[in-house]
Amino acid sequence: MDPESKVAHRQRALKQYRLRSTFYDIELALFEPIRRKAIARLNLRRGATVLDVGCGTGLSFEMLQEAIGRRGRIVGIEQSPEMLDKAQRRVALQGSTNVTLLNASVEAANIACKADAALFHFTHDILRNREAISNIVEHLKPHARVVAAGLTWGAPWNLPANGFVLMAALYSTTSLEGLDRPWSHLADQVGEMEVTQSGGVYIASGRCLKV
Ligand SMILES: C[S@@+](CC[C@H](N)C(=O)[O-])C[C@H]1O[C@@H](n2cnc3c(N)ncnc32)[C@H](O)[C@@H]1O
Repeated sequence: MDPESKVAHRQRALKQYRLRSTFYDIELALFEPIRRKAIARLNLRRGATVLDVGCGTGLSFEMLQEAIGRRGRIVGIEQSPEMLDKAQRRVALQGSTNVTLLNASVEAANIACKADAALFHFTHDILRNREAISNIVEHLKPHARVVAAGLTWGAPWNLPANGFVLMAALYSTTSLEGLDRPWSHLADQVGEMEVTQSGGVYIASGRCLKV
């Protein structure tokens, strides 16, 4: 993508989430079972450090905390100031002292640690951005767990699922590119991923095999 298109893309994404931030948590309620499954697939241990990539309003924080405990650490990366503001309020309400929030695009974020795991939950735009994935992979320990979950096209004859995916993707991403295998760039950089798909939603999990 040329630099001008990148700026336009980013502006579109920022606008999309500025408008959505108020009702975002209610809209995502439908996907909470997917979130729980995706986080379970991270196989987090007590004390682990996890990158919540495109953390939004921090809806994953509570489940991540349950797994990593107080000695663990969450690093949430989010470019939308309005979404991050909600995440900050959530952290304050939960009284957590082990969450670092970075208001930055994932591709440019200054991540000051090597993590045991990375979660990409409903972050299609980020997953289609190779620079963003590289920055995350550079900040993972060897064999770190990586899980991505989100929308994907269903089988061609599954018109209801694909209609839903189309509407939801138009509403929440800046491009439909890559919806057939949203995890493909991630798999290129971390290694083989195990993928389950059902009704327009996927969960892809693997281990970072780079050393
Ligand atoms: C659908 S929301 C998902 C939020 C959260 N992961 C969840 O599960 O609720 C996608 C989030 O990714 C953020 N985002 C999109 N592109 C980004 C980028 N390049 N860098 C950082 N955040 C980005 C958006 O601002 C938005 O908050």
